[in-house]
Amino acid sequence: MHISPQDGIGVVVEGFDAASEEDVQRVRETVYREKIVVLKGQELDPHAFLTLGRRFGRVQEYYEPIYHHPEVKEVFVSSNVSEGERQIGVPKTGKFWHSDYQFMPAPFDLTFIYPQVVPSANRGTYFIDLCQAHRTLPESLKEAAHTATATHSVRRFFKIRPSDVYRPLSEIIDEVDAKTPPVTVPAVLPHRHTGQDILYLSEGFTLSLTDADGRERPGLLRDLLEHTGQLDESFTHPAIHLQGYELGDILVWDNRSMVHRALHTSTPEPAVSFRVTVHDDPETTR
Ligand SMILES: [Fe+2]
Repeated sequence: MHISPQDGIGVVVEGFDAASEEDVQRVRETVYREKIVVLKGQELDPHAFLTLGRRFGRVQEYYEPIYHHPEVKEVFVSSNVSEGERQIGVPKTGKFWHSDYQFMPAPFDLTFIYPQVVPSANRGTYFIDLCQAHRTLPESLKEAAHTATATHSVRRFFKIRPSDVYRPLSEIIDEVDAKTPPVTVPAVLPHRHTGQDILYLSEGFTLSLTDADGRERPGLLRDLLEHTGQLDESFTHPAIHLQGYELGDILVWDNRSMVHRALHTSTPEPAVSFRVTVHDDPETTR
């Protein structure tokens, strides 16, 4: 197995063997330091993809079943391709800055994305490193961030399901709030594997920010998001990394410290990718 740096954030791994415990250990050691690992030349069916995820920890099945792979429910499917009458997975997922499951009490550590059908243009995922964002905060903002608490919710980006058609919107919102109540945590969190501070805010899931006195601070939230680069609609902010991929790649990233945003093709080309998400709990997995 050979690891080499890539432009921007992350490393590329050639010769990764999904069955090798040694390779898995090296990728695990690498991903929290380098943030993104691209495993080249992988040929795994959905069952083997799930098995790979399990080698890294406890696989988290997505809480909304419409995203599940029909045979392997732990595999989340993003797809704009339908098979006959049937839509498999959900189209156009993640086109906003977020960390996966940030709106849940226990977000997972690692995200694995395995593209299956790759469009010819406009493919990739944007990333921003929130540890780097914290490190580069001006002192005044850093101080304010360290005493603030943030509330995260899926509400703004919950996707209406086929079964929601003809339901009153208020009923759907009530259901979303009951199933996934907003989560309030410190705006700066220590990374549980590296101890680094994470400026844990996203444009998509962070609903509000409150200061030490319990006052809502929308201006502070905007300033902090601006600093990270998430408000740059031109995607030219120096903190933004565009991760490309090709067939055979599996992207693995440190979900706790990275926000990401899908770049979807604007042409009607088919695009399908599989995702597995993992809690890498030091106590429970090994
Ligand atoms: Fe995502």
